[in-house]
Amino acid sequence: MIIKSSEFVVSNSDVAKCPNSKLPEYAFIGRSNVGKSSLINMLTARKSLAKTSGRPGKTQLINHFLINKDWHLVDLPGYGYARVSKSIKKTFQKFITQYFEQREQMLCAFVLIDSRHNPQPIDLEFMQWLGEHGIPFCIIFTKADKLKPNALTRNVEEYKEKMLEIWEEMPVHFITSSTNDLGRDEVLKYIEDLNNQ
Ligand code: GTP
Ligand code: MG
Repeated sequence: MIIKSSEFVVSNSDVAKCPNSKLPEYAFIGRSNVGKSSLINMLTARKSLAKTSGRPGKTQLINHFLINKDWHLVDLPGYGYARVSKSIKKTFQKFITQYFEQREQMLCAFVLIDSRHNPQPIDLEFMQWLGEHGIPFCIIFTKADKLKPNALTRNVEEYKEKMLEIWEEMPVHFITSSTNDLGRDEVLKYIEDLNNQ
């Protein structure tokens, strides 16, 4: 898919205030610092459409971006960020879960996993929660440029093994790098196909 236009629409912490449209949308979710905002910039080929930072906890709201005037990309705050207070964590959790429970036009959640790390309980639990709520999701292994090819393959294989202890099959997954555009065409093609269904 060719990205002809991408524009910021709105940020908020209230699902009821998300854009009042039926356009299909795709959410990027995962632990703080995993690369959600960077991936949105990579997909849209915009340097700083979504705000990124080396410090975890940068994205704190639900951010809608309109792509090709036809569908939305949604940048969400990270979960599992240790340095925010418990009450902030609770508020985050609440609006993230409300977002997924209420946004019927959300066609696929992309769950981002840092390809360098072992399977983490928080991610596995979050995917389990999505499954229990019938919310479609895919996995994106991020920051592939930080690993040698062998280590990357080994980590992805280990992740698959872990997932197969829980799931009957491995969900659709992609390997990406926001620094060298790895996986860009594949993710955009996947979105395009869902848009056309
Ligand atoms: P929060 O909004 O805090 O939840 O983080 P996020 O998941 O949006 O992460 P963000 O995109 O802000 O990226 C976090 C850090 O990782 C930044 O320093 C990015 O430059 C870096 N980063 C993100 N993706 C990649 C990647 O594919 N490769 C490399 N090398 N660095 C990346
Ligand atoms: Mg972010």
